[in-house]
Amino acid sequence: MYQKIILEGGRRLKGEVTISGAKNAALKLMAAALLLEDTSEIYNIPELTDVVTMASLLQTLGAEVDYDIKEKKIIINATNINNVEAHYDFVSKMRASFVVLGALVGRFHEAKVALPGGCSIGERRIDLHIKGLEALGAQVKIEGGYVIAKAKKLVGTKIYLDRPSVGATENIMLAAILAEGSTILNNAAQEPEIIDLANFLNAMGADVNGAGTSEIIINGVKQKDLKAVTYTTIPDRIEAGTYIAAIAATKGKAIIKNIFPNHLSAVTSKVIEMGGKVTILDPFSMEISCNTRLNATNIVTQPYPGFPTDLQSPFISALLMAEGISIITESIYENRFRQIGELRRMGADVQQESHKAIIKGVKQLTGAQVIASDLRAGASLVVAALCADGTTEISDIHHIDRGYEKIVDKLSGLGAYIKRVDIDETNLDGKIINIEENSY
Ligand code: UD1
Repeated sequence: MYQKIILEGGRRLKGEVTISGAKNAALKLMAAALLLEDTSEIYNIPELTDVVTMASLLQTLGAEVDYDIKEKKIIINATNINNVEAHYDFVSKMRASFVVLGALVGRFHEAKVALPGGCSIGERRIDLHIKGLEALGAQVKIEGGYVIAKAKKLVGTKIYLDRPSVGATENIMLAAILAEGSTILNNAAQEPEIIDLANFLNAMGADVNGAGTSEIIINGVKQKDLKAVTYTTIPDRIEAGTYIAAIAATKGKAIIKNIFPNHLSAVTSKVIEMGGKVTILDPFSMEISCNTRLNATNIVTQPYPGFPTDLQSPFISALLMAEGISIITESIYENRFRQIGELRRMGADVQQESHKAIIKGVKQLTGAQVIASDLRAGASLVVAALCADGTTEISDIHHIDRGYEKIVDKLSGLGAYIKRVDIDETNLDGKIINIEENSY
C-alpha cells in the first residue's frame, strides 16, 4: 500500500515523547548474534522496517528469529546457521546488513555478501571494511556484485583506518572476536553505537576494550567462550535529535524521555546557540523549549563526538526560519542535501555550494507537496512541514519508516496535526482511500 504523510503546520509541539531503541545499534547487535552458537535476547528493539529486513536476512542464513514487536524484544538463535550468503535483495534495501560480513567471516571463515553499492546520499565505499578483513588474514574478492571472503584462519593484527568509518569498525570488530590473538584497531569510530556493540559482545563473552575511544583492542576468544546473552539496546540519539530540532523549530516546549543526554551534547550545544533552552531533568530525559524565533548558526558534521551527519537534515529545516544566515557544512557524505529542492518548494531560501548549504532565514514557510528522497531527508521535510503555514503532503514515506518508529503517533502526541493516509496506487495524485485512526 502506498502511503503519504499529511501534516498541517504551525503548531507548537508540547508534552512529552519517548524515544525508541537505536536503529543503528539494534541492527548491528542482531548481526553480532550470528557469532553465537546460542541465543541472543535483545530488548528495546525499535519497531522499524529495517529491523524486519535484518530479521528476514538472518532467517535466510538459518537463524531462528522470534521478533516480539509488542515487547520490543527479539530473540535470535544462530546455532544452526547453514548459509553464509547475504542476498542482494536484503543488502540493497538496507546498508546496515553489510555488517553480517564480519560476523560470518569471524565464525565460519567464509561469507558472500552483496555489495551495498552507493546510495542516494553518497558513494559509501567499503574499501576500509575489506582492508580490515584482509589484514586479519581473509582473501577478499568482488565478483558478480558480491564481496566474497574466505580465510583459513583469522589472526589478530594492528589495523589503522584511514577514516573512522562506523561500518568498517563494526565489521572488523565482529571478524576479530574469534580470531587468534589480539587486534588493535586505530582511528576507530567512537560512536555510542560502537560502544553498544562492544558491550553486547562482551556480555556474550568476547574481550573488547577501548570502544568509544579511537583505539579498540579485541583479544580473540574461543567459540566455546561465547554464551547466551540478554541485552538492552541504547536509545536512538538520532531519533531524539530529530524531535529536539522539531520542538525548537516550532517554538515548543516538550520533554524527551528514554535518552542518554550525553550522547546528544553536540546537538544540545547547537540548540542553545540557536536560542533554545535545554534542561536535563534526570539521567534519561531532558526538556527542550524555545519561545522566540531561533538564531542562525553554523554547523559542521563530523564523526562522533562531533555533530552527527544524520541530524544535519532536520537541523537545516529548523534553521529555515531562523534570524540570519546559517551555513551547514556536510563533511561525511558527498550528496546529503537532496531535500533542499523540496524545501525550496516550501518557500525556503537555501543554496547548495559544494558541500555547504547556505540558509537565509525566511519569515514563513508554506505547505507543499514534497517527496522524501531518503530517511533523514524525509525527517527534514517533516520538521519543515511542522513549521510551515498550511498543509504539506510528504510522499515516499517508506524511507521515513525505515528509521522513525511511529512518527505519526509520536508527533500527534506532541500536538502536531499529522496523519498517515493510504493512497490509491492507481491515482497517486491524491485519492485518499484510508486514513489512520489517529488522524487529526
Ligand atoms: C553509519 C550509520 C549512518 C551514519 C554514518 C556516519 C548505520 C546503519 N548507519 O553508516 O546512519 O550516517 O554511520 O555516522 O549505522 N567510507 C569509506 N570507506 C569505507 C567506509 C566508509 O570511504 O570503507 C566513507 C563513506 O563513503 C562515508 C564515510 O566514510 O562517506 C562514513 O561512512 P561510515 O562511517 O562507514 O558510515 P556507515 O557505517 O555506512
